[in-house]
Amino acid sequence: MDIVVGSPEAMGDMGRRLAGLLRAGDLVMLSGELGAGKTTLTRGLGEGLGVRGAVTSPTFVIARVHPSLAGGPPLVHVDAYRLGGGLDEMEDLDLDVSLPDSVIVVEWGEGKVEELTDDRLHIRIHRAVGDTSDEVRHVTVTGLGQRWATADLGVLSA
Ligand SMILES: Nc1ncnc2c1ncn2[C@@H]1O[C@H](COP(=O)(O)OP(=O)(O)O)[C@@H](O)[C@H]1O
Ligand SMILES: [Mg+2]
Repeated sequence: MDIVVGSPEAMGDMGRRLAGLLRAGDLVMLSGELGAGKTTLTRGLGEGLGVRGAVTSPTFVIARVHPSLAGGPPLVHVDAYRLGGGLDEMEDLDLDVSLPDSVIVVEWGEGKVEELTDDRLHIRIHRAVGDTSDEVRHVTVTGLGQRWATADLGVLSA
């Protein structure tokens, strides 16, 4: 599935729609170059989940927990850009401990968080060569594992 997202606002909207698919125990991996829109998507997701605190790109913090204001699971937002490979590097974050009760979103998580669970939603954001607008992004979504085998990812497109 290739979803064309035409603006930062549309990316936020997609994050809000994504919130409707997610529940505690879900791991979302976000890929895409710097400035692709990973954090923008996560911000919309946080709004959709009704969590406290603005989702930002932390300069020093690797992970931030946003508790729910709506009785739902907290959002754990991880930016693994500065971390090396493997879950060992992130041991202090105790992601395995928080996952069952949280929605975890990881930017730059490839090669680092796969061992957490076989059930993952992998969202890739990229700019296609030749797009005339600076704001066009192409988003592909892949669900891995039993959790996502029958999920209707079509709701993510507007
Ligand atoms: N379609 C779009 N989706 C998301 N962000 C976009 C889009 N078009 C332009 N932008 C801009 O690109 C930047 C994306 O930044 P950010 O979400 O922090 O990226 P990342 O977390 O992937 O490094 C923001 O300044 C945003 O306004
Ligand atoms: Mg980011």
